[in-house]
Amino acid sequence: MTNHPKIKKAVKLIKNSGHTTIFTGAGISVESGIPPFRGEGGLWEEYDPYFLDINYFINNPLKSWELNKKLFYSMFADCEPNKAHRLIAELEKAGYVDAVITQNIDNLHQQAGSINVYEFHGTYKELICIECGKIYNFKEEYLKNLPPRCNKCNGVLKPNYIFFGEGIPQKAYQASIDEAEQADLFIVIGTTGEVTPASLIPKLAFDNGAQIIEINPNKSNFTNQITDLYLSGKATYIMDKIHQGLQDTN
Ligand code: APR
Repeated sequence: MTNHPKIKKAVKLIKNSGHTTIFTGAGISVESGIPPFRGEGGLWEEYDPYFLDINYFINNPLKSWELNKKLFYSMFADCEPNKAHRLIAELEKAGYVDAVITQNIDNLHQQAGSINVYEFHGTYKELICIECGKIYNFKEEYLKNLPPRCNKCNGVLKPNYIFFGEGIPQKAYQASIDEAEQADLFIVIGTTGEVTPASLIPKLAFDNGAQIIEINPNKSNFTNQITDLYLSGKATYIMDKIHQGLQDTN
């Protein structure tokens, strides 16, 4: 597969790129044991997305926390980065990758060693008080008495990832736009491209002249719209072939 023409083309694009940005979705964490939201085994096949709506949280903090604990916190506690996360971190160290923009809240890119990571939908590693805005680093003890409360104003603490109806974290949003404006190459991995404004970022990169490589076992909203090179397959498998190809050409 390393000699597959599409892999060879991807290797060439990466080597010739002056600025490469990785854009990931839930699919890159599937091989770490974290279910996606849509498609086979997706969370939304089993749960109503309304439990992740900010109004539901404000009106039912305990019920919402119980579901978030079950579907995210308990899941993330036992999950490790997979080979795709690790190879992306290696490519950053080797100078082939400049930044990662992720829609994921699982912190697996950082755990794998990636440094320049923008979390477009926030992170489970922090909690925020919905009254006074105080930020807390997540600790397991906060899950003992739900909903957790602020030690400053006794307000309810919320996971510091965005719920439906909330805005995108400003710093991550601006950084993602900056990446889309300067990247020569966007590598889009494991996302349906169903959710805005996240899905607008690869489209902005395309409009700014970036080449788009897409890694996904299934076609997405991007594939027939902006993707220049579609690599059909699982993230760990394709990233491994690309990594091997880069090593072979050094
Ligand atoms: N390797 C690569 N891609 C994979 C793999 C894999 N092993 N397994 C599944 N995929 C792909 C699926 O084909 C699908 O395109 O991952 C994608 C998962 O799609 P979604 O679950 O829609 O994930 P994502 O696009 O990240 O969702 C965006 O929706 O609900 C919100 O906030 C949530 O961040 C999430 C956003």
